[in-house]
Amino acid sequence: MDYVLGLDISTTGAKALLLGDGRVIASHTVGQSVSTPHPLWSEQNPEDWWDGISEAIRSVIVDTGIDPTAIKAVGVTGQMHGLVILDSAGRVLRPSILWNDQRTQAQCDQITEAIGPIEVIRITGSRVLTGFTAPKLLWVRRSEPGVYRRIAHVLLPKDYVRFRLTGEYATDTSDASGTSLLDVGARAWSTKVVNKLEIKPEWLPQLYEGPEITGGVTAAASRATGLVKGTPVIAGAGDQAAAAIGMGLTAPGLVSVTIGTSGVVFAPLEHYIYEPNGSIHAFCHAVPGLWHWMGVMLSAAGALQWYHDTLAPTVRFEMLLAEAESAPAGSDGLLFLPYLSGERTPHPDPLARGAFIGLTARHTRGHMTRAVLEGVAFGLCDSLSLMRDGGVPMPEVMRLAGGGSRGALWRQIIADVMDIPVETASTAEGSALGAGILAMVGIGWYDSVAAACEAWIGRGDVTGVSDDRARYADLYPVYRTLYPTLHDIFPQLV
Ligand code: XUL
Repeated sequence: MDYVLGLDISTTGAKALLLGDGRVIASHTVGQSVSTPHPLWSEQNPEDWWDGISEAIRSVIVDTGIDPTAIKAVGVTGQMHGLVILDSAGRVLRPSILWNDQRTQAQCDQITEAIGPIEVIRITGSRVLTGFTAPKLLWVRRSEPGVYRRIAHVLLPKDYVRFRLTGEYATDTSDASGTSLLDVGARAWSTKVVNKLEIKPEWLPQLYEGPEITGGVTAAASRATGLVKGTPVIAGAGDQAAAAIGMGLTAPGLVSVTIGTSGVVFAPLEHYIYEPNGSIHAFCHAVPGLWHWMGVMLSAAGALQWYHDTLAPTVRFEMLLAEAESAPAGSDGLLFLPYLSGERTPHPDPLARGAFIGLTARHTRGHMTRAVLEGVAFGLCDSLSLMRDGGVPMPEVMRLAGGGSRGALWRQIIADVMDIPVETASTAEGSALGAGILAMVGIGWYDSVAAACEAWIGRGDVTGVSDDRARYADLYPVYRTLYPTLHDIFPQLV
C-alpha cells in the first residue's frame, strides 16, 4: 500500500498524519509551548518545530512498522503569519514572532501610511494587522538592527520545516497571503509593497501553488526523520486554507465555520475581490486559481475555556453545558462580548475587551455559560454578515469544525444565530488532512483538489435551524451596537 504524510506545525504541537487507503492510518503529535518574554510578545523557536516534527514522523513510521519507501509524498501546513529569519547559512537568527504577537502596532501604521490605507487593502486583501509578517520584519529592523543586518531569508513557520526537509526556500500562495507582502490578486510578491518597505526581494521565498512539488527530502533530513531521500515535499498551505480543504471546501458556494481557540469563517471565491474596509481577509486559496474570504475571531472556544478555567475550574464542561441548555435562548437578556484577546474580524482592534452586559441578580451560571456560547456565535455571525454583504454566495448548509463543534448545544446555537443548518466535519484531522490531500494531488493520485476531497471527505451529521432563530434575530442587532458603544471606553482600561 502507498501512503502520504500531512505535517502540521500548529501553535500547540507538531503533528504527523499518515494517510493511505482512503483513511487516516496513524497520527503522532509532539506538544510545543509558546513563550511570552514580554507583555504582547508571543514566540517559538523554529528549531523546536523541526525537532518536534522529526520525532512525530519517526514515531509514525516506527509505530505502524511501515516501510518508509511506501510514503510517496509529504504535504506541509502550519500556523500562518509567523516571522522566521535566517542568515546566509540558513541559521535561525532569533525566535519566531508568532501570529498572535501584538507588539507591532506602530509598524502596521507605518506600512499603512507608506502604501496608503486603500491601496494596501487593494493589493494585500486585508488591513495590515499586528499578527502579520511584514510589520514584524520592520519591528526587527527598528529594535534589533544587529539581527536585521544578518537576514538573508524570510520564511513562514511551515516553510522553515520545508527548508529543513528539502534545503529549499519556498512557500505557497495561501500562506504568503498573510504576510502583507503579497499581491493577492496577482498571486505574486508585490514589487510595490516590497520596494516601498525597502525589503530585499531576494529574502522572500519562491512562490508555489498548494499542490506543486517544492523539492525532495535531503540526506540529512532522511537521517533525522526516517523518510526516504528524495521523497517529494509539496507546497501545502497555511493552516486555515488547509483546514478548509480538509473539510472539502474546494468551490465557491461553500462556507465553513471553525470553533477552535480562535474562530474562523471561510468561503472560497472564484475571483479576487476584497472587502473595501479590509475587515475581512481576502487571500489566495490552496486550490489553484481560487481565492477565499476569511473572518478570524481571536477568542472562540478560547472564550469558553477561559470562562471554565477562571469561573468554574472544578466543574466538568459537560455539566456547564447541561446548565446552559436549561437557560432559554438569549439567556434572559444577558449578552457576552467575546473580545478577550482583542479582535480581528470585524473589529481589527487589539484594545477591544470582553464583557458581560445585562447581568441581573436573577441570572444563574447556566445563563452566563449560554451567553458565552451565544456571544461567540454572534461574533462569528459578524464575519458571515460581512461576506453576505460583500456578495459571497450563502450555502444551504454550512460545514462546522473545531473542538467547539463537538457539543450539540453550541451547534444548535450556531445554526440558529446564522439561520443556516450546519453539518459537522466528518473528521477532526483538519489542517494535516488538507496538507495530505494536497500532497496526493501533487504526485498525481488525483487530477484536482476537488476530486481528492470527493474521495476523502465524508458527510457529517446535520443540525437544522430551530424556532430559537427568531429570538436571536431580535438580539443580534443589539449585540452589534455593543462594540461601537464601548469602543471609546476600551483605551481607558489599558
Ligand atoms: C489565521 C491565523 C491563525 C493562525 C494560527 O489567519 O492567524 O489561524 O494561522 O493557527
